[in-house]
Amino acid sequence: MAIMEEQNRMALDSYFTLGRSGLRVSPLCLGTMTFGQSSGWGCDEAASAEMLHAYAEAGGNFIDTADVYAAGESERIIGRALNAAGIREEMVIATKFTFDSGAKGVNAFGNGRKNMMRAIDDSLRRLDTDYVDLYWMHAWDTVTPVEEVVQGFDALIRAGKIRYYGLSDVPAWYAVHAVLYAAQNGLAAPIALQLEYSLLERSIEREHLPAASHFGLGLCSWSPLAGGALSGKYKRGDAGVEGRLTTIAGPSRGVLGKEQSWVVIDALLAAARETGQSPAAVALNWAATQYRSASVIIGATRIDQLRANLAALDFELPEAERDRLHLASRLPLVTPYDFFRPRRTAQTMGGPVRGWEGFTGLRQTPKD
Ligand SMILES: NC(=O)c1ccc[n+]([C@@H]2O[C@H](COP(=O)([O-])OP(=O)(O)OC[C@H]3O[C@@H](n4cnc5c(N)ncnc54)[C@H](OP(=O)(O)O)[C@@H]3O)[C@@H](O)[C@H]2O)c1
Repeated sequence: MAIMEEQNRMALDSYFTLGRSGLRVSPLCLGTMTFGQSSGWGCDEAASAEMLHAYAEAGGNFIDTADVYAAGESERIIGRALNAAGIREEMVIATKFTFDSGAKGVNAFGNGRKNMMRAIDDSLRRLDTDYVDLYWMHAWDTVTPVEEVVQGFDALIRAGKIRYYGLSDVPAWYAVHAVLYAAQNGLAAPIALQLEYSLLERSIEREHLPAASHFGLGLCSWSPLAGGALSGKYKRGDAGVEGRLTTIAGPSRGVLGKEQSWVVIDALLAAARETGQSPAAVALNWAATQYRSASVIIGATRIDQLRANLAALDFELPEAERDRLHLASRLPLVTPYDFFRPRRTAQTMGGPVRGWEGFTGLRQTPKD
């Protein structure tokens, strides 16, 4: 295992500016979808507060929640814990709106301005704070015009209710439209995307990450352990392990039922053995170091899981292990992306081109 030199070492308090913004955040963000028990797989208030304090004491400053998590209980727990500890100002609180959070009426869903304005006030009340640092549109609703969404976020910034905003679970073209519309109209632009990204889900490498890199958007990646599949605790054919994937949702999104998942998990276990780290730490380290402006949103149901996951930044993943993981988990090359390989780029450009890999925004360059 290569221990990183002190000056190069990435740590929770190695804050970086998220996207093209002045907002400084930790490279690991604390996900709180597991705070509160109404989901059936979350934890109680005492356990949630303990995790929040452990994360803050380790230097973490970035907390991700949503109005829908545990039907609002996640936001309430965060508000009470931060205010009781007197650390609200030090923290960057991110929350989201889009989905049904219990409000009444057909306009209590989606990304229309009426729902956005209602949702932020409800979140501020539950979080017991005057402003949200980073407000996310939780998901594209497929109907609200992008102009209405950008204007709404800009109005919330001007009203002092939020400081920045970002887009979660959107198509890449939608994010680009939002950035360009904001720039052309002197409005605040989104600073980051929130998307699923892990060794078992790399689809965003095709469109979202090149777009994010080009337009200066940060990345906050969710489900970096694919709901626990990359923790190493699940074994082939073993349904007896206690965990969200087997006990609640069934094999979530079928991830444990796919042969390709086990190819990736086997490579991960080998990389963990080789580096002397836990599989979860290796998977999180990989996710945290793939894209240049990334904060990985870690999830935990128990304090021991959180502590293990916070160790993910304490080592540098050797290139040989990064290659092993990449080869097991890379996306199939489909049209038109086969045109953008180094060999093809050399053909279209009349010879090898320096810096061609820069457009992907990724550290891991394709091997073929
Ligand atoms: N924008 C979106 O649409 C969206 C969607 C999903 C999540 N998110 C955000 O992303 C955060 C993280 O998502 P996630 O919870 O799905 O992340 P994840 O890291 O993929 O899964 C976390 C789960 O894996 C298991 N686990 C974690 N560390 C472990 C360890 N060291 N050993 C064994 N098991 C371990 C735990 O579940 P068990 O104990 O049950 O096994 C834990 O709750 C959420 O809290 C939320 O803030 C956003």
